[in-house]
Amino acid sequence: MNFPIEKFKNIATPFYYYDVELFERTAKTMKSEADKYGYVLHYAVKANTNEKLLRILSSMGFGADCVSGEEVKHAIDCGFPKSGIVFAGVGKRDDEINFCIDADIAVFNCESEQEIEVINELAQAKGKRVNIALRINPEIDAHTHEHLTTGTIEDKFGINLWQLESVVKKVMQMDFVEITGLHFHIGSQITEMSPFILLCLKVNELQDMLEKTGLTVKHINIGGGLGVDYEDPDQNPIPDFAGHFATINKYIKLRSGQVLHKEPGRVIVAQCGTLISKCLYTKELQKKNFAILDAGFTDLIRPALYGAYHKIENLTFAYSGIQEVRQLKYDVVGPVCESSDTFGKDVLLPRTRRGDVFAIRTAGAYGEVMASRYNLRTLPKAYYSTEL
Ligand code: LLP
Repeated sequence: MNFPIEKFKNIATPFYYYDVELFERTAKTMKSEADKYGYVLHYAVKANTNEKLLRILSSMGFGADCVSGEEVKHAIDCGFPKSGIVFAGVGKRDDEINFCIDADIAVFNCESEQEIEVINELAQAKGKRVNIALRINPEIDAHTHEHLTTGTIEDKFGINLWQLESVVKKVMQMDFVEITGLHFHIGSQITEMSPFILLCLKVNELQDMLEKTGLTVKHINIGGGLGVDYEDPDQNPIPDFAGHFATINKYIKLRSGQVLHKEPGRVIVAQCGTLISKCLYTKELQKKNFAILDAGFTDLIRPALYGAYHKIENLTFAYSGIQEVRQLKYDVVGPVCESSDTFGKDVLLPRTRRGDVFAIRTAGAYGEVMASRYNLRTLPKAYYSTEL
């Protein structure tokens, strides 16, 4: 990625920088690959809620996958048609449900019988019938970080397989909800194809089983977020969407007229976002060297929370034209008063000086949205390649 480093000099750090051209290229590639199979994409708003990016996605024909009433309102404000909005989440409040019923969104992804009873009652009070998809916990291990798996028996998400038949029978008796879809989600940042294949096979089996109870649905939502390359963002800026969809298409058995939905977040927005920071101080000590940045885990919490890897670059050096320089290993840390405020340990970097500009890459997903005001720090601002 090329960074406009001269322009960065006039901007107070830390901040998020979004390469809008890469964002558009990624979204377009995914959409056109999905269109080949008639798959419908709902962007998972939780990954990045920036209005500018959301407006681009809504104009390209993406729907929105929202996990709070606020996200639903924001998606509507950013131009997503209400008929393309899905409301998901394991703990939906009554006021959020009421708002979504009034807004006539496309569908509620539901996680338990109790939740469906509540939606049925609230819909009845309004004299409306609403579409729901049953989120089924398929008991498939996505082989990703333990905090990012959602589809095993240990997880809080979805309706368990052992309950499924009885829940379906009860829900089919309810007058104000209609089961229009089945929803599955096994986790995020999934880099192997085998969990998706297992999921497709499980979905086929469950569809056969549910049809015997009299249920055929209009859409199947195959969730599980395709991973991005955190190690080498420049080599693989756009994931292999063609291969991913071809595999799903090969294994999933859709009924005639049935449409496949997906709700991608990270894979669209991760690579275009970079956290830009400046080195405040360096410490070259006997056992360790530290580069102390002005960004902290309040700006990007993924390394502290998940031990996540983000590639770290010294942009001042990279754009200096100097070829050879002494490299040192640094722990790259932030200013927050906690040892976990570390972006990377033993990172090999050119000898760093106060004032050097750093890039923490692949930070567009779950970066800015997870920022906090701990230590009363200010929230990072966003800047866009098209506006600098
Ligand atoms: N649908 C459901 C039901 C989800 O639970 C998620 C993510 C998504 C869609 C979007 O998944 P994606 O395409 O972004 O992988 N904060 C964590 C990620 C948490 C993901 C939670 N669910 C991180 O920074 O890695």
